[in-house]
Amino acid sequence: MAKRSLTGIKPTGIPHIANYIGAIRPALALGEQYDAYYFIADYHALTTVKDRQTLIDLTYEVAAAWLAMGLNPDRVTLYRQSDVPETFELTWILGCVTPKGLMNRAHAYKAAVADAEAQGKADVDAGVNMGVYCYPVLMAADILLFSADVVPVGRDQSQHVEMTRDIAEKFNLAYGDVLRIPELVVSATSASILGLDGRKMSKSYANVLPLFAGPDEMARLVRRFKTDSTGADEPKDPESTGLFQIYREIAAPDETRRVQAALEAGGMSWKELKDAVVALLDDFLAAPRERYRELMADKAQIRRVLAAGAERARPEAAAMLARVRHAIGRQPVSL
Ligand code: TRP
Repeated sequence: MAKRSLTGIKPTGIPHIANYIGAIRPALALGEQYDAYYFIADYHALTTVKDRQTLIDLTYEVAAAWLAMGLNPDRVTLYRQSDVPETFELTWILGCVTPKGLMNRAHAYKAAVADAEAQGKADVDAGVNMGVYCYPVLMAADILLFSADVVPVGRDQSQHVEMTRDIAEKFNLAYGDVLRIPELVVSATSASILGLDGRKMSKSYANVLPLFAGPDEMARLVRRFKTDSTGADEPKDPESTGLFQIYREIAAPDETRRVQAALEAGGMSWKELKDAVVALLDDFLAAPRERYRELMADKAQIRRVLAAGAERARPEAAAMLARVRHAIGRQPVSL
């Protein structure tokens, strides 16, 4: 049987080019060889998204983006985390074998505490809800419920997958060999695409190229990319801007070599590179844009895909949860 690849997609922002290069494309590639279970992690998003319409909109947008970029729902099981309620029971059970100290060491929690400290707050836990604190346990439940073999994630999530392994080992030590210990697959490019302002492309820096901006908006944003002041015929460092990184990730290798050589030799201006990126993205995104527009205009299509995914996933989740309940000594009673 094919091995299982599983990953969660948190609906907290509109998908952008760096998401595609760092997360969507590698996960779809893995889905070619693995039995892929990919889900919208809406209850993880709930730790930060507090507006109901935003959660609704982002759930559709993120699902539509993956479908438009090539996720084939006949091959990949695409579902919404909250449609698999077995997840939340497993979360509690795992929480009971998870050391609190392990959660204290989670990067996201530590960053929140460091922030509060820097602001001189008396209570360093101010602003940390229990969802944020227990986030890694929910993630462990997502992964362990489906006995994932590999979990493709960006570098920022690797600690959470390590924690999942720790939690699974703790459970297995107490109750026997029930949970599969997953392998981590970290995407190499995920951390490195630079945004409009030269910092890492990230929605928290508001420096992103949204995948489904219209062609005019896309061109406007590409032209706003920060570049240094080297003149048109001076040699340039292609790596100094996200523009070339994006070009390299999307264009054919010989095109990339040609552009790189031209930049390094002073045979191409930044403006010409921007024009090339605009043309490349226009071409690359034309079909996905159309598909995205269609999906967003008929959201019932998206709901049908998610419902079918949940229908495939749930029996498996129920079977795993039954094994876990048995292992911990929760016996059925007959009424
Ligand atoms: N926490 C992940 C993120 O922010 C999303 C996620 C939730 C996830 N559950 C998961 C990723 C399980 C991999 C496996 O991107």
